[in-house]
Amino acid sequence: MTLKNVLLGSACVAAATMMAFSAQAAGRLNVICSADNEWCELMETAFELEHDIDVSMVRKSSGEAYAQVRAEASNPKIDIWWGGTGDPHLQAAAEDLTEEYKSPTLDQLQDWAVRQAENANFRTVGIYAGALGIGYNTPLLQSKGLPEPKCWKDLADPAYKGEIQMANPNSSGTSYTALATLVQLFGEEEAFAFLMDMHKNINQYTKSGSAPIKAAAVGETTIGITFMHDMVSQVKQGAELTIVPPCEGTGYEVGSMSIIKGARNLENAKIWYEFALSAKAQSIAEDGGSYQVPSNSASRIPEAAPRLEDIKLIDYDFAKYGSAEVRRSLLSRWDEEIKTAPQ
Ligand code: G6P
Repeated sequence: MTLKNVLLGSACVAAATMMAFSAQAAGRLNVICSADNEWCELMETAFELEHDIDVSMVRKSSGEAYAQVRAEASNPKIDIWWGGTGDPHLQAAAEDLTEEYKSPTLDQLQDWAVRQAENANFRTVGIYAGALGIGYNTPLLQSKGLPEPKCWKDLADPAYKGEIQMANPNSSGTSYTALATLVQLFGEEEAFAFLMDMHKNINQYTKSGSAPIKAAAVGETTIGITFMHDMVSQVKQGAELTIVPPCEGTGYEVGSMSIIKGARNLENAKIWYEFALSAKAQSIAEDGGSYQVPSNSASRIPEAAPRLEDIKLIDYDFAKYGSAEVRRSLLSRWDEEIKTAPQ
């Protein structure tokens, strides 16, 4: 073998090795999922069926997912963050933790989903929406002889001592949405005074946002504060729950999706992004027991999904309550004043 052939041969081996390496890299995607676990898993399966890309997925609540993305900023392990409430996605965008991407599918999306993208200079986008509510275990409430809660302020009634569950707003986007909603409804001082009164009635601040209504469904708490679509999921599984849209009005989420800045599998992240915005993929939410309103106008809206137009919604200021400054300040105030206050 001549020297030329040897060199050519090793060049071919090097090229083949590189191709194998890049083929492997092209076949991977790391997803952090902040929607409900069953839907997360269904999305992973549906995506892998359509694409030769191996998905590695973890489920984390929105606030925790944000904290991970922030902690890994200099060496990102996640490529795409799918689902979870929009506020921490907006905060991540403002802190330059996520990648700008203008999807060609934007013009197929509902206004609220596009507005979410615009608020973040296209570093996030809306994938679903849903409103907050109060849910209670109907037979349990009756057997305890408790009044039916109709309004947020009712939840401060001492009759409910130990009967209410909500998530910790630091870990849970659902609960941060509740905190921001109360501040928008009543002003910050009055909202915190109410949270302090309600604190005496709280039996647990859970990590995940939907946990309180799952607990109410099995009678571990009487009342839970969650998104109404999470209540619908439990009712569909046979739970005897009453879903209450609070009389003062309520806040809502624009569940969002963001590509992580410096994603190692950027092209695959974009493939997931387009898949997740497609009407076809969004229509499988219901099969995963999720009942949000999807963002693609052509997606099937589950019949049982609580419709935003039927609910008295506040004009939720996503830009303000998703800003790093406001989110950080409300969360630290909640930590300092409410979390550790005596009951
Ligand atoms: C549930 C809801 C989603 C929401 C998510 C937020 O899964 O169905 O609509 O985005 O909770 O989770 P978190 O644990 O952050 O409150």
